[in-house]
Amino acid sequence: MTLIYKKMKTICLVLLFISVSSADDARVNFGVEDGTNAKLAEQRNYQSSPIQNYNTEFSNEPYAIGFNYHDYEQMTKFLRLTTSKFPSLTALYSIGKSVQGRDLWVMVVSASPYEHMIGKPDVKYVANMHGNEAVSRELMLHLIHYLVTSYATDPYVRWMLDNTRIHILPSMNPDGFEVSKEGTCEGGQGRYNARGFDLNRNFPDYFKQNNRRPQPETEAVKEWVSKIQFVLSGSLHGGALVASYPFDNTPNSLFQNYAAPSLTPDDDVFKHLSLVYSSNHAKMGRGVSCKSSTPGFKQGITNGAAWYPLTGGMQDFNYVWHGCMEVTLEVSCCKYPPANELPRYWEDNKMSLVKFLSEAHRGIQGFVMDDNGNPLEKVSLKIKSRDIGFQTTKYGEFWRILLPGVYKLEAYADGYVPREIEFMVVNDHPTLLNVTLYVAKRKDGPTYYRPQQQHQPPQYHQHLGPPYDQQPQGSGILSSLSSGFNNFFGSIFG
Ligand SMILES: *[C@@H]1O[C@H](CO)[C@@H](O)[C@H](O)[C@H]1NC(C)=O
Ligand SMILES: [Zn+2]
Repeated sequence: MTLIYKKMKTICLVLLFISVSSADDARVNFGVEDGTNAKLAEQRNYQSSPIQNYNTEFSNEPYAIGFNYHDYEQMTKFLRLTTSKFPSLTALYSIGKSVQGRDLWVMVVSASPYEHMIGKPDVKYVANMHGNEAVSRELMLHLIHYLVTSYATDPYVRWMLDNTRIHILPSMNPDGFEVSKEGTCEGGQGRYNARGFDLNRNFPDYFKQNNRRPQPETEAVKEWVSKIQFVLSGSLHGGALVASYPFDNTPNSLFQNYAAPSLTPDDDVFKHLSLVYSSNHAKMGRGVSCKSSTPGFKQGITNGAAWYPLTGGMQDFNYVWHGCMEVTLEVSCCKYPPANELPRYWEDNKMSLVKFLSEAHRGIQGFVMDDNGNPLEKVSLKIKSRDIGFQTTKYGEFWRILLPGVYKLEAYADGYVPREIEFMVVNDHPTLLNVTLYVAKRKDGPTYYRPQQQHQPPQYHQHLGPPYDQQPQGSGILSSLSSGFNNFFGSIFG
């Protein structure tokens, strides 16, 4: 078996595990009363129910967002107020509950808040995953406020919301936030969830086995991203000023603290996405350093592993498991600065936050169908020579962010003749490409690209080998020393 074939097989196994179905599962539940909500959270299908229930509650309140920190109650109230004031632009749903029972609220901002727009991308921001990294949480509330109040007057925002569904999870770790202290720039109090787990070390990992017990917050996000095909995502953090892109982990376990780059086959795209954020930011792109003792990041971007490697991070998971390009956005040197500094953080990040998401409209998009024009779901796709694959949705849709150039798309579905199609990407608009797959006549099938059927979830560390060289063996005392060091190192930074 050639190395290429092995790689493809690996990717196909990943793809088979992915569930990117049901865009109308992305409908929204409105169970804001506690009892109802627990039930709806169990169903985890984000079904909608009438929004009108809550409209009267806020009928006389002005719609505003202050530059103060919003605890869980205040945040919830603001989100509900938003849906009552902007029912045709927003929807609120819960993807589950934290350890202490707080809802993990997601607000959709879009001209189609309740339903996926077929052919148009869904994107997301996840903030406050580390509970004490509080700026990100407030940025999300301000972003929501900005988008809904600009829709009528700002053509760019209108275009974005007409063509994109933006899902915003302002706090992935609401329990951690509640025990964090305003004015605390560093340290770990409030970083972890209520059971002491670091949520950004709690995801399945592409390179190493992650034995940490999955936490409810992580499970909720995993379920969410398996139901909605997100094209692009930002994970917002604090404690540094940099856009950090995959991979966060590295196949090299013994010497991983040397912080060597661990690059994806989409490195050009990830660098570009990171630069869009950093260069639209008031300071990040200049490589401003947070401490005089440490240098800033060149152009305000870095590869995650080149900064410091970590196992179980969310961005590698999004990219490898779900074909969603996620970048970690470190938006403030101080994790939880005094509230009077919030106006400046908002001004510094506002443009970046909007421009970053619009990058979902770059590259290729289209549909895969059979020769009767019926959409084909879960078709395994990959851009030739970029060995991290992705899949079609139940409407046969696919998206992939790519920079201008000429590429080949490889499409494989069991029972169909695989195809390879050349296409071109330009700068100004996405390339639309519809692909028809024909039923395979012969049983012995294609020779170039045939994934094995697998119904069990993969054993991550066994099946999902590193994309390049040998699978590392992380065992023994050196490895545990090194991972201990990583934990220490990881909690200093974002
Ligand atoms: C691609 O297919 C979709 C869905 O069937 C259709 O709406 C669209 O017009 C097609 N686009 C092109 C360029 O053929
Ligand atoms: Zn963080």
